[in-house]
Amino acid sequence: MSVSTDTDKRKVTVQTFQKMKERGEKISMLTAYDYTMASILDQAGLDAILVGDSASNVMAGNKTTLPLTLEEIIFYGKSVVKGVKRALVVVDMPFGTCSGNPSKSLKSAIRIIKETGADTLKIEGGEEISEDIRKIINAGIPVMGHLGLMPQSINKYGNYGVRAKADAEAEKLKKDALLLQELGCYAITIEKIPASLAEEVAASLHIPIIGIGAGAGTDGQVLVVHDMLGMNKEFNPKFVRQYADLHTVINSAVKQYVDDVKAADFPSLQESY
Ligand code: KIV
Repeated sequence: MSVSTDTDKRKVTVQTFQKMKERGEKISMLTAYDYTMASILDQAGLDAILVGDSASNVMAGNKTTLPLTLEEIIFYGKSVVKGVKRALVVVDMPFGTCSGNPSKSLKSAIRIIKETGADTLKIEGGEEISEDIRKIINAGIPVMGHLGLMPQSINKYGNYGVRAKADAEAEKLKKDALLLQELGCYAITIEKIPASLAEEVAASLHIPIIGIGAGAGTDGQVLVVHDMLGMNKEFNPKFVRQYADLHTVINSAVKQYVDDVKAADFPSLQESY
């Protein structure tokens, strides 16, 4: 079924996000880290593109998001912004760039916005970094929060399992979500928590809640683009729906290319000058 939406040519802003929440229109977001992918996603009518710190995993081949630097996210962010006309561009603040030193955090936030041209930032964490977030928002930079599974805290958790199953952690998440709204965050991503909790948070706040592995009751969804396009055969958690099998498509195209080169079948006369 094709859903009628407000996918006109106008640039998506944080105000658009708010209006979408108010009229019950779901928000679509995917990650991208380069110009070409960003322009394909934008042309397909996606509402928001996240230059996620998952770049550390899928682009740089690291095991966690922790090694990603400010310079690296700025490089990815700049590349994405050049490919986007309509979608809201959100850039992640890498691990260690927003962690309890508000003046330093603001400096990093300003660098990302100034040097990438992105629209907004996403920051992992709640109460512990509330002063950092307050300072960044006060400087005129819209912030999307990120609660639930926060991959930058992997060494604290020990695994990437579902978060906030226990009452105490669920209560803290609800408190943090309310605090982020009060601080002026325009939206919050919540990752890998029970669907019932995510639905409760989305219903109790007036800002949009974007879920990943958080069920259908949120105001929008986000996935890592490499996962939903089926580029990594080893990573297929149940919250990812694969919309393509690009691993197989690319693998067989490259195999065919190798065969053609070896057989001196490529290039043909028509492909030569
Ligand atoms: O970095 C990222 O890709 C993210 C999403 C998983 C939400 O933060």
